[in-house]
Amino acid sequence: MSETGKPISRIDGRLKVTGKATYAAEFNQPNMAYAFPVRATIAKGLIASIDDAAAKKEPGVLSVISYKNALRLKPMDMQAQMKAGAAFVGENLLPLQENKVHYLGQFIAVVVAETYEQARTAAYKLKIRYTEEKAATDLKTELPNAKKPKMFMGEEAQVNEGKTAAPLAASAHQVNHSYSTPTEHHHPMEPHATIAVWDGSKKLTLYDATQGVGITSAIAAYFLGLQPENVRVVAPYVGGGFGSKGLWLHTLLVAIAAKAVSRPVKLALTRQMMQTNVGHRAATIQRVALGTDTAGKLSALRHHTDSYNNLTNFFEPSGKQSLVLYQAPIREVTYNVTTLNRGTPTFMRAPGETPGTFALESAMDEMAYELKMDPVEFRIANHTAKDPMKGHDFSSDFLVDCYRIGAERFGWSARSMEPGRQRKGKYLIGYGMATATYPGGRSAASVKVTLTANGDVTVQTASIDIGTGTYTVLAQTVADALGVPVDRIDVKIGDSSLPAAPLAGGSQTTASIHPAAMEACVLLRKELAALAIADPSSKLNGRRLEEISYTNGKLVITGDEKKSDDYADIMKRAKRTEIEVCATTQPVSGPGMTVPSALCTPRETPPEQNSDIKQYAFHSFGAQFAEVWVDQDFGTIRVKRFTSVQDVGRIMNEKTARSQIIGGVIFGIGAALMESTEYDKRWGNPVTRTLADYHVPVNLDVPPIDVHFIGKPDPHISPIGARGIGEIGITGVSAAIANAVFNATGKRLRDLPLTPDKLL
Ligand code: MOS
Repeated sequence: MSETGKPISRIDGRLKVTGKATYAAEFNQPNMAYAFPVRATIAKGLIASIDDAAAKKEPGVLSVISYKNALRLKPMDMQAQMKAGAAFVGENLLPLQENKVHYLGQFIAVVVAETYEQARTAAYKLKIRYTEEKAATDLKTELPNAKKPKMFMGEEAQVNEGKTAAPLAASAHQVNHSYSTPTEHHHPMEPHATIAVWDGSKKLTLYDATQGVGITSAIAAYFLGLQPENVRVVAPYVGGGFGSKGLWLHTLLVAIAAKAVSRPVKLALTRQMMQTNVGHRAATIQRVALGTDTAGKLSALRHHTDSYNNLTNFFEPSGKQSLVLYQAPIREVTYNVTTLNRGTPTFMRAPGETPGTFALESAMDEMAYELKMDPVEFRIANHTAKDPMKGHDFSSDFLVDCYRIGAERFGWSARSMEPGRQRKGKYLIGYGMATATYPGGRSAASVKVTLTANGDVTVQTASIDIGTGTYTVLAQTVADALGVPVDRIDVKIGDSSLPAAPLAGGSQTTASIHPAAMEACVLLRKELAALAIADPSSKLNGRRLEEISYTNGKLVITGDEKKSDDYADIMKRAKRTEIEVCATTQPVSGPGMTVPSALCTPRETPPEQNSDIKQYAFHSFGAQFAEVWVDQDFGTIRVKRFTSVQDVGRIMNEKTARSQIIGGVIFGIGAALMESTEYDKRWGNPVTRTLADYHVPVNLDVPPIDVHFIGKPDPHISPIGARGIGEIGITGVSAAIANAVFNATGKRLRDLPLTPDKLL
């Protein structure tokens, strides 16, 4: 392989930075109208009346739609939705079907007008009266009403409940503390938007800012009562998602609106709506207890999370990493979840591990200090090469290398165990570290590869590039698998009419689509070889398939490269203008999250894929190291440098991979130091509603970030050997920073974000 791994710049990068990449809201249509949603101004209750007389009189208004006159959608039915591949909705709620209000900001009506401004003006003219009910808006207040969920996404949610009390009490050393993390919002650069275009009443096209064209198509088709192949979802470029771009109400709302006015309609969410209508990471209160023997070996690990949900079974699974990391004879992971009248919590970059590693990895640091052990050595002493719950070996095991290499690169040996020993002027300097981890997912995927006689290659799959590099790395894989240059390869993704691929979530895109792309190329080369073998004027005529290999756009006899035949010549002589092959691959003992792959019938059964989830546990691991400078006078914390060493399997592109980790670390710096959505408790109204008050890191907050990859292919996940990389970068970051703050100041901060008030 010569292209795979190279630090090629993103092939969509220039389009994006020059404004030539077309985002959902930019697919303007002839005769297009604009929709502006009306949002509930109470947290809970019923709509008593809607007076739309004034709104309707506004200039340009085409329609005002509420529960009274909206198109009826097929009701929610989880069993039937799962069958239809339509289960992955953001919230268990449909737009404008009833008069109930579940949270402030809920879409309760929509105004359609000739222009955006007209729709927006008219939307504020609706007079809505409510019958208000008492709302639950605050986590701490509502915790007494919390319930213990039985399941989380098919797994037992309560593990070994109550079983660690005795072993913890009997441990030579114990730590037992509470940690909290705030509600956070994804805030991708590109706000959500959808343009709906009906073709008659049976066919619909949605230009949608989504992480998954396939699931969005399946879900929209389900609720609108259409055939999935008649709902085309298009999203060639997406400006970030971080988990927020699943299917939310506005996508169905705009389909309803477009049908009502028989015109294409655009609906673009405002930044304020991004706080209430497209998910968030729920706040957590976590309690972690660790026990060890006198030598520092863990004897018990307990991790309990209190959190909330609304209109969903999803809750922030902060105990996930506590089922994966470290040897311990017994571990307990439990949850209490209450319901709050807030927009629905959802997946957000490393859901679970992001707040979860803050608590666990802070507790590990606290225990290391209690034991007077170096935090790196403490973790190495408790390392496990096996999944502690399932007993399977991890598919690759380089976490100890991550610790050692990270410590070396960072200069960890200069750290003093006792806090407050390093200072420069008024700055207290500290070093901290933490473990990173995220599951290595893989799903079924289909990829179609077309070779034309002039040497151009087209690669097609219904995958997505949310800014991660999908276009680029896919071209690299196909370039190697066919022996053609990257610049001859045209990658087409982000369209549900292409062969099925999983949504760009769960860090699984690379692991899922690359095996299929490679398989399609293998089949394509076989087809070329068969043509050459059968052709009397080919130098490969009459040879056996096994003798033939490929290089630089030609087939060659292995070991006798003078006997070769150009792809172009083979095709011309066979009078073929193109050869097209589609392949579907899947992890052999699946199931994973899959979408129906009816759009690609593999020409032959894919060969055995070697992702054996019955034998191996698939996880990525890493080590995070931070240096912080704490201003003694103001309590401000600056991250001065950061080292991240990651084992994520094969690196498909050194540059895009590094960018993913840098992005994750920056996201983690945000979570550690500044991100927090604040609510007005009276109405559950988010008061941090813009990027001026919902703080995220800017250039001055971001230090040099040293990223190093172990880079060894995972021999078990697929023939490619790459695991996902989108989410692991954020995990462990806030703990590494909080641990560094302790090392700098001697103050243990257990509540994120680490704002200056907490240090003074
Ligand atoms: Mo990610 S939170 O699975 O988009």
